[in-house]
Amino acid sequence: RFCVFKVILCFLFYINHCDIFVLTEMLESNNLVTFEGLSNSSSYHTFLMDEEKGRLVVGAKDHVFSFSLVNISHDFTQVRTYSRECSNFIKVLQPFNQTHLYVCGTGAFHPVCSYLEVGKKPEDNVFRLEPHVENGRGKSPYDPRLLTASMLIDGELYAGTSADFMGRDFAIFRTLGKHHPIRTEQHDSRWLNDPRFLGVHLIPESDNPEDDKIYLFFRESAMDGEHVGKATHARIGQLCKNDLGGHRSLVNKWTTFLKARLICSVPGSNGIDTHFDELQDVFLMSTKDPKSPIVYAVFTTSSNIFKGSAVCMYSMTDVRRVFLGPYAHRDGPNYQWVPFQGRVPYPRPGTCPSKTFGGFDTTKDLPDEVVTFARSHPAMFNPVYPINNRPIIVKTDKDYQFTQIVVDKVEAEDGQYDVMFIGTDIGTILKVVSVPRGSWHDLEEVLLEEMTVFREPTAITAMELSTKQQQLYLGSNIGVSQMPLHRCEVYGKACAECCLARDPYCAWDGAECSRYFPMAKRRTRRQDIRNGDPLTQCSDLQHQDELSGQATLQDKTLYGVENSSTFLECSPKSQRAVTYWQFQRSADDHKQEIQSEDGFVHTEQGLLIRTLAKKDSGVYLCQAVEHGFMQTVLKVTLEVIDTERLDDLLHRDNEAAAAANVQEFSSPRESPNQRLWYRDFLSLVNHPTLNSVDEFCEQIWKRERKHRKQKWKHLQERQKGRNRRTHELERAPRSV
Ligand SMILES: *[C@@H]1O[C@H](CO)[C@@H](O)[C@H](O)[C@H]1NC(C)=O
Ligand SMILES: *[C@@H]1O[C@H](CO)[C@@H](O)[C@H](O)[C@H]1NC(C)=O
Ligand SMILES: *[C@@H]1O[C@H](CO)[C@@H](O)[C@H](O)[C@H]1NC(C)=O
Ligand SMILES: *[C@@H]1O[C@H](CO)[C@@H](O)[C@H](O)[C@H]1NC(C)=O
Repeated sequence: RFCVFKVILCFLFYINHCDIFVLTEMLESNNLVTFEGLSNSSSYHTFLMDEEKGRLVVGAKDHVFSFSLVNISHDFTQVRTYSRECSNFIKVLQPFNQTHLYVCGTGAFHPVCSYLEVGKKPEDNVFRLEPHVENGRGKSPYDPRLLTASMLIDGELYAGTSADFMGRDFAIFRTLGKHHPIRTEQHDSRWLNDPRFLGVHLIPESDNPEDDKIYLFFRESAMDGEHVGKATHARIGQLCKNDLGGHRSLVNKWTTFLKARLICSVPGSNGIDTHFDELQDVFLMSTKDPKSPIVYAVFTTSSNIFKGSAVCMYSMTDVRRVFLGPYAHRDGPNYQWVPFQGRVPYPRPGTCPSKTFGGFDTTKDLPDEVVTFARSHPAMFNPVYPINNRPIIVKTDKDYQFTQIVVDKVEAEDGQYDVMFIGTDIGTILKVVSVPRGSWHDLEEVLLEEMTVFREPTAITAMELSTKQQQLYLGSNIGVSQMPLHRCEVYGKACAECCLARDPYCAWDGAECSRYFPMAKRRTRRQDIRNGDPLTQCSDLQHQDELSGQATLQDKTLYGVENSSTFLECSPKSQRAVTYWQFQRSADDHKQEIQSEDGFVHTEQGLLIRTLAKKDSGVYLCQAVEHGFMQTVLKVTLEVIDTERLDDLLHRDNEAAAAANVQEFSSPRESPNQRLWYRDFLSLVNHPTLNSVDEFCEQIWKRERKHRKQKWKHLQERQKGRNRRTHELERAPRSV
């Protein structure tokens, strides 16, 4: 059992190191720009992108910032927002007119709004808060922890928020503008039941603007009797933009409000579906038809036991079909929710007053029976199911959950792809492309990159994408970050690697993996997102790859101690490659595949050898296979040292020890000392002659000092090492 414990310990160690490495890789790359936040501010959650002026406006605690989209840390201005005794958290930032933005915040538990002058043109260089302050009730919540989803259209502000100090009166409001403010019915849990609003969007219903609808995305507690026990449901709600409320009943209340449940679930093995109900964020991807954007939604689970996240896609056709379907109605002996079977009054509740669908000019002219029906039937019976009836991405058993999503449409050689950028609650971003395998009904999710963008684990709470700048902007509690949409250079220095990456932003241009532009049609461009098949794309370039791609093969020597364990680390750049290991005892022996038995444990990160024996000395080849294309990514010469020689290695200035050191440090990709430390730790942790880690560290320290003394020798050895390094790139049978 002790041994198992140690193996686990070693893995924890390994994983930590790996994380640190990934983290520093992104944070220290010059691609990531971070605004670390002001010491007297926080909560950089409210974003407004203005691509024309080239600015990102960010609402935070007590401040509004204006960042340059080119480089957020290079050029920004800030204004202090109005607040007396308490902090003011900015919750609403909307374009008001050509020169001003509308800004609302929590105030000191007393919401306030104001106008922020930003100028007409970028050169105007103004960023000034008007001194005049308006009441922010029904626009911003009182409590900084609550969310508001808002949108300003034609001088009117649509906001889903809470309108009281206690955070109990949640409603969808329309304020500002020339009309009387209007809201959802108060204290009626059929309309809204402790909701949290996440997004507001205007989507036209026809070519006639009178039919324009406002859609709201939120999650709320399931209606009484809708679910056994306490449950959350994800919702889409609709309103007519020209709704002015009822005449006798529902006065200054919406008469066209309807809501439907959004389903995002996967079938379980026991026949019970696992539901992702905690809607977190929504992104609308425009299509050629402005009436039919694709709705991308991010969900998590409500369960404490089962932690998971999912992304589901919905079509507006399906949404409209549900709103035209049966209304939910409470009836029957158990007073349960059933589809309403009776006569629906005309015009059908939820229809906008317009010339398209009937002769009503305003909702004030609606017959009483329509208003009465609308008041008691705000929910639809049928839910909206996702496209293909299942999520496009599901992640379970991860130590993180999804929080945000933005999607970019990317033109590639073999078609158009939607690339998703998904933010998590630990400050990382997943870049994912879904590729049709045969048809729309069979999508394959391809994880392109996973990046850490904040120095400490913090939830990503805001995300905006600029196609003009090809940059992504991220907000969190601690600051704002900016990263490029593509970093083609990380996909290596060979055509095959570039191709296997399947990143629609990138293509092999004959010399390197670089940004693909559909306009600049050059025959040398190699890209294959759908299949990621380098055999068709790169076979004629193979020889060239062999010459240019030495950097892809790592070749090193490792020393292990008899009866201890060792770990051969091998994680290919492509997240989808399958690895397997070959062993060759000596140059004239043939290579044999290492099976996952006999004390060898295959992991995603490498190969663990539990107990080293003298016979394990030899060459280990880590082969990465993807789409029948095989590449040797690592060649390790392992030398197992018997116990008697260990003392020599550790205590005496033995040549072997020096050589081991030199080998370790000479590998160009393996410079971080932690890695050496870790590996040695692994190979020695089991050893009986070492009493404590302290003693071990002492040895390492001595070796490092010795290593520094031997710098000259090291450089010489490095030269030799480089000459020894070879590149292997071979084709495997397509069946592998
Ligand atoms: C916060 O500090 C910045 C300078 O770091 C200053 O310009 C700003 O006025 C301060 N804000 C408040 C609300 O005190
Ligand atoms: C952004 O601006 C900062 C500060 O001026 C500078 O240090 C950094 O190199 C710039 N980064 C990029 C990617 O331009
Ligand atoms: C925009 O609105 C602000 C605030 O009401 C007003 O002062 C300003 O004159 C308006 N600008 C234009 C161009 O209408
Ligand atoms: C290594 O393990 C083998 C088999 O358990 C044992 O016979 C041998 O004595 C061990 N060697 C050392 C140095 O502990």
